Order: sequence, then C-alpha cells, then structure tokens
Amino acid sequence: MAFTRAFVMGHPIAHSRSPMLHTYWLKRYGIEGSYQLMDVAPDALAAFFETFDEQGWIGGNVTVPHKMAVIPYLARIDDAAKAMGAVNTIWHEDGAIVGGNTDSLGFIGNLDERVPGWDRTAQRAVIVGAGGAARAAAYGLKTRGLEVALCNRTLAKAEALAAHFGKRVGAHALGELATLARDADVLVNATSLGMVGQPPLEVDLAPLKADAIVYDVVYVPLETAILKAAKSRGLRTVDGLGMLLHQAVYGFNHWFGRKPEVTEELRTLLADDIRAKTPGA
Ligand code: ATR
Repeated sequence: MAFTRAFVMGHPIAHSRSPMLHTYWLKRYGIEGSYQLMDVAPDALAAFFETFDEQGWIGGNVTVPHKMAVIPYLARIDDAAKAMGAVNTIWHEDGAIVGGNTDSLGFIGNLDERVPGWDRTAQRAVIVGAGGAARAAAYGLKTRGLEVALCNRTLAKAEALAAHFGKRVGAHALGELATLARDADVLVNATSLGMVGQPPLEVDLAPLKADAIVYDVVYVPLETAILKAAKSRGLRTVDGLGMLLHQAVYGFNHWFGRKPEVTEELRTLLADDIRAKTPGA
C-alpha cells in the first residue's frame, strides 16, 4: 500500500492527543502512513478543501471550530453526523470526500468495553449538559434503546436538543437532577465541569441505584471528583479517555483499511501523557 496521509485539523490544534494514538496504531500494524496536526484557521478552510487531493490527504479528523463548517465541502455525511449536525471524521468514498460523526460510537464503544452487557437491563439515562458531548451521548444511548433525560443549566438548550431528537429524549432543569437520578441506570456528565481548571459538577449520588453506572466524558483529570465519589459508593464508573480512543477506531479503519484495537497499552500511553502534563491528574 502506498504511503497514506491523514490529519487532525482545528484551530488551535496543538493540544490534540489524536496524533499520539493514530501513530501508535500505525506503528503497531506496520502501516506506511502518517497522521499529522493541521492548524487551519477559519478563513483558510476553503483553501484546505480546494487543495485536499493535491496534498495527498486520505482523510482525517475535524475538531473545534470546524465541526459544522466543513459540512458544505463534503459530498455527503452519514446519519450520525446528520443527527448531531457536526462532522468529526472525513474520508474518501467512491471518489468523493465524505464525512461522518464517530463521537456517539466512541461513547457507546467505551461503555461496551468498560461495562460489558450494561444494556441488558439499562432503560433510563440521565445526561447532564446539552452541548456537543451531550448530543453524542444522547444519540448513542437513544440508538441503544434507552430513554434519555437531558438536564442542563440552560433549560432552553436541553429543550432544543430534546426536540431535535424527538421521542424518548426529554429536557429538564438542573434542579431536577436529584429526582431523575433515582431512576437512572446510567448517569452521564457531558459538561465541561470537573475538567482541570473548572469547578466540579455538584451532584448528589446518594439517590442512584446500587447498580447504576456513572460516566464522565471529561478525561483531564482521568478520575474526576464525581467518578471518585461514585467509586467510593461502589458504583461502576466509566471515564472519558476511552471515548477518545474508541471514536478514533472508525477513522483509522476508513483511512488505513484496518479496524484497530483499543489496547490497555494504548490507554496507558495516553493516561501517562495526561498525568505528565496535568499536575494532580
Ligand atoms: P461540549 O461541546 O464539549 O459539550 P459546550 O457545547 O460548550 O461543550 O457545552 C458545555 C456544557 O456544559 C453545556 O451544557 C453547559 O451548560 P449551558 O448550556 O447552560 O451553558 C455546561 N456547563 C458549562 N459550565 C457549567 C456550569 N458552571 N454549570 C452548569 N453547566 C455548565
């Protein structure tokens, strides 16, 4: 196979950990290819796509602030990207440049890996937040048949998202969280709260059932205050790092023709990097 080039593009982009994980897989599978950071300012987006094939790109990942802005440049987008209104992965298909969104697959893939069989009994999920991460979580959980309650500081945002998803997704104010938690099989923090430099998400875990799962999409630090509290209550927990790893699987497969494995070694590689760069993480 010829040398293949993929990218992650955003602005700013220097903080992205995606090159670390794709380079790990390229090496592990002995694939001739590269995955590189591309800092693309908003006014350079059109030029980026004009020279896409000339640059020899096979595809890549898209992050802030381009997840919506890239859509007009793509021949088509998949159902998940349509549902989320955002693209995080681009690839070639039948001679065209197309896009998709793998964040919800990453969210669910991580849950499947960390708590196998979780959906045998789970019926209700409560998601705190109504931004991009909450969208991915809601779409993934709804697709797996759960009822989803979105709880957000700004109720109107939760309402707009619930209306967008339709049946089985409801909107609630943050004040209803304690009541909703009583019936939750999965509780998700999909806000930026708990991230390094942010205050923690204040949530009383006492009402949760003993077999509830607490999932935090935040991964810096790896163990947020809510995950620590959930563990000490004996609840099953899922951290956000696995979501990053699992969403990457699909892009790698599109570009390099092989579905890569999320190994413990890869998890450790990224976890060590996070700890090294984040005191206290
Ligand atoms: P992302 O795309 O990563 O999900 P986002 O779109 O900025 O990020 O969404 C951040 C989420 O965290 C939002 O749901 C936000 O609530 P609002 O819609 O009310 O802004 C939530 N959030 C951020 N800071 C918060 C805080 N201090 N208290 C409660 N919710 C907060």
